[in-house]
Amino acid sequence: MAAGFGTQANALLRKNLTFQKRNVKANIRLVAFPIVLCLLILALQIVFDKLVNNNDDNKCGCICVRRNGDECVEERCGIEYSNLDQAVFCPIPNPPEWPPLLQIPAPEYRAVRNDFMTFTDLPSESCRINGSCPAIFLLTGNNHSFGEILGENMLPNTFSINPSNLMGSLASNVAGSESKPGTSQFLDSAFFSDLPIYSVQSRCASNSTISAPVQLSSINITQEIRCLQGLNLWRTSSSEINDEIYKGYIKGNSEEEINEIIAAYDFLNSDPNKFNVSIWYNSTYKNDTGDSAIGLVQVPRSVNLVSNAYLRTLLGPSAQMLFEFVKEMPKTETQLRVDLSSIIGTLFFTWVVLQLFPVVLTALVYEKQQKLRIMMKMHGLGDGPYWMISYAYFFVISAAYMLCFVIFGSVIGLRFFTLNSYSIQFVFYFIYINLQISLAFLLAVLFSNVKTAAVVGYICIFGTGLLGSFLFQLFVQDQSFPRGWIIVMELYPGFSLYRGLYEFGQYSFRGHYMGIDGMRWADLADSRNGMREILIIMLIEWVVVLAIAYYIDKIVSSGSAKGPMFFLQNFKKKPHSSTQRPALGRQGSKVFVEIDKPDVVQEREKVEQLLLEPSTSYAVIVDNLRKIYPGRDGNPEKLAVKGLSLALPSGECFGMLGPNGAGKTSFIGMMIGITKPTSGAAFVQGFDIQTEMDTIYTSIGVCPQEDLLWENLTGREHLLFYGRLKNLKGSALKQAVEESLKSVNLFHGGVADKKAGKYSGGMKRRLSVAISLIGDPKVVYMDEPSTGLDPASRNNLWTVVKRAKQGRAIILTTHSMEEAEALCDRLGIFVDGSLQCIGNPKELRARYGGSYVFTMTTSADHEAEVESMIKHLSPSATKIYQISGTQKFELPKHEVRIADVFQAVEDAKHRFTVFAWGLADTTLEDVFIKVARSAQAFNDLS
Ligand SMILES: *[C@@H]1O[C@H](CO)[C@@H](O)[C@H](O)[C@H]1NC(C)=O
Ligand SMILES: *[C@@H]1O[C@H](CO)[C@@H](O)[C@H](O)[C@H]1NC(C)=O
Ligand SMILES: *[C@@H]1O[C@H](CO)[C@@H](O)[C@H](O)[C@H]1NC(C)=O
Ligand SMILES: *[C@@H]1O[C@H](CO)[C@@H](O)[C@H](O)[C@H]1NC(C)=O
Repeated sequence: MAAGFGTQANALLRKNLTFQKRNVKANIRLVAFPIVLCLLILALQIVFDKLVNNNDDNKCGCICVRRNGDECVEERCGIEYSNLDQAVFCPIPNPPEWPPLLQIPAPEYRAVRNDFMTFTDLPSESCRINGSCPAIFLLTGNNHSFGEILGENMLPNTFSINPSNLMGSLASNVAGSESKPGTSQFLDSAFFSDLPIYSVQSRCASNSTISAPVQLSSINITQEIRCLQGLNLWRTSSSEINDEIYKGYIKGNSEEEINEIIAAYDFLNSDPNKFNVSIWYNSTYKNDTGDSAIGLVQVPRSVNLVSNAYLRTLLGPSAQMLFEFVKEMPKTETQLRVDLSSIIGTLFFTWVVLQLFPVVLTALVYEKQQKLRIMMKMHGLGDGPYWMISYAYFFVISAAYMLCFVIFGSVIGLRFFTLNSYSIQFVFYFIYINLQISLAFLLAVLFSNVKTAAVVGYICIFGTGLLGSFLFQLFVQDQSFPRGWIIVMELYPGFSLYRGLYEFGQYSFRGHYMGIDGMRWADLADSRNGMREILIIMLIEWVVVLAIAYYIDKIVSSGSAKGPMFFLQNFKKKPHSSTQRPALGRQGSKVFVEIDKPDVVQEREKVEQLLLEPSTSYAVIVDNLRKIYPGRDGNPEKLAVKGLSLALPSGECFGMLGPNGAGKTSFIGMMIGITKPTSGAAFVQGFDIQTEMDTIYTSIGVCPQEDLLWENLTGREHLLFYGRLKNLKGSALKQAVEESLKSVNLFHGGVADKKAGKYSGGMKRRLSVAISLIGDPKVVYMDEPSTGLDPASRNNLWTVVKRAKQGRAIILTTHSMEEAEALCDRLGIFVDGSLQCIGNPKELRARYGGSYVFTMTTSADHEAEVESMIKHLSPSATKIYQISGTQKFELPKHEVRIADVFQAVEDAKHRFTVFAWGLADTTLEDVFIKVARSAQAFNDLS
């Protein structure tokens, strides 16, 4: 009875689990990798926290106010206890007020007259040497005289600084700084640099520099206030100003031609009744530095400056529109919180997840490389159970691995895992590992060697990770890169994995930095979140890849016989098969029968008879089976089997002899379903090999030429597995395995529980034979079972085979005549794809061996004498072999008496030296050589 799906699945699963158990080392290595990486990240994070995140410079400053011995029992924190670096992290409920400043060009860049700037009112270049250049305002407008008045009202003539209230008094002057706005929003960097604060005036008295202390909570700085002459220059139009500013802008590396100004004003149609002005300012600070708002801090003063001037023009010099201070908005305490797992996790975890890929791939390729897949199939394992169990098995392994990884990462507190929603992570990893397994199934088709597969697999891992972080991530971050191309790149599963992990990293980084959650389901709607698109891509790819992999596997695993349209063929054939069976018998056979020998013809007739009146005592019936390999690359087509007919009763061992390339292996290949016959039919236990192979598999056993074994499974486990496939259960299974082990002498001394990889050649061979015999198959094929065995092991094996003959048919190919004689009830000699003779060994010897073989070795001079002596003994003797004095003759038995031969040799010894001589009856080997030779000679003739 055929083993059901459940039985097969059970057998395969148990085998896989045992296999997994054997691979403890590899498993530990596999799981250790992510654990080590997680621990590495954790260690880095701890060091980073210590050195950077929790460094005193990266948090608000504190002082200890009450100390108990060495321990501080109360500390006070705040901006007043902080240095400059710490201040930005402090809570600032009431931000400091800063006087509004102008952005002043550095002395060496202030506009001067040069080859490009021909305006005569510009200061001469010599002022740059001692840094005394004035700073320039450019003015224009429709009414020159009105514009001049406005310009004069912009700048004061003197400065009045009250050192005790420096900040307040600066606001009533025109203050400016050449320092660039810093990153801190709470401290105006102009007051914390070595550069002076300028008071811009229309005239400067000599030594008009004062120093005044600046105090901000605990920070005390002495600030130098220096007078700077501001020069108003009139230009006739706004286009002239544009031109001048344009030419003054930095060009290449030649700093000499830089001509910078403070600001430029176009008064347009302003008059005492209306004020209409446009202002040029230098917006050096662009958005991409992230500090756009700070750059603008310096602009308002230039607006206020001109408004104030207009007010004074209308109301007199005492009028004042005071711009007192600028001030940031209040903020809470912040902390530098950088999560490393979110930054480096993307690359590391890509490697961790991808690591499973070569594992699955090599496991699949191993079974293919060792031809174990076909071996399992021959012993009844269907494609369906194989797929389902293998897939489920790899899925469980992958899932366990991912679970270990995520749980371990979460337990040690990596924010990459803890901040993002676990349900999104679950869905993401679930879909990805399924896609990865499907992909491994698909790619396993391309490899036939485990090492190549492993190397390619690992190159893929590292390549994907590196390409991901050094190329793909840049594209993702570049907002101007077309989204469509990113999606195209994400079609490569490695990149979709990378993208998913990248998004997790981004969300957890931001979440930790800002003290909020990582990715939640609602975040999938974010336009910049790529998670949604890759989940869809991976889901679709999973289904598609799995379908393609299954389809290709179906074609490949069934040999090249099934074309790509195999399912259509099945469909077409079914309705006919029942009516076709008897008719299949004799199509186009006669063409190849002309040279058949009587015994072969007789066998053919027996087959015809059996096809008409089926008999259950015949296990195998082969009817005119042919196999032609199509011509390739200009080679002619090859006839491997030319019309073979054979009938084997149960209980018979049939031996197939024949030189290499005679077609024995092709014949067995057809019988076990590896290749399809070109024409003809064969029935095993009444089932057609063309259409009912799956049923046949349950009642045959195969011992292939090479030992197809799992190196890591023991002999007992092999037999248990194949026994289960043959539907043995419980105690019956145990008993069958035990008996089988005993019968092949693998039971004692713990041999049964040693890994098959450690077996000697003979033990492996015996195990292969045991496998082919387990589960009581009705037909067993053994392809050269004793090749490469020492004589003792070979005798052992023969005993097993002889015992196994009962109740089943055995087809055995061999090169050893001794083996054929010892084991086989009938022999067929197979030459060039057809049977030359068939019969039991004794018959064959009698039929083909009616002669003695006489061998004599003399010196080369006496060869002729030996030959004449033989001709005298037996006139129709033939010489079959001659080399430097050794000659072999065939003497027909009816012509010679043995006594005459001895007499002739004795006589010869008197005449010349005989080194050695011998007389032998024909052996099966001679029969074989003779048959093979005559068949080949005939074929050469025809
Ligand atoms: C220019 O402005 C002055 C006042 O400062 C005014 O007297 C004069 O009429 C204006 N000129 C024109 C052409 O509007
Ligand atoms: C504007 O500012 C930048 C940076 O300080 C400077 O390189 C450039 O020359 C300035 N342009 C003008 C016209 O002042
Ligand atoms: C201000 O000047 C611009 C440019 O000359 C002009 O288009 C606009 O009408 C003026 N606005 C007023 C209120 O006069
Ligand atoms: C600069 O930043 C502001 C606010 O952040 C934004 O509205 C504006 O579009 C940005 N400008 C450019 C050119 O990106």
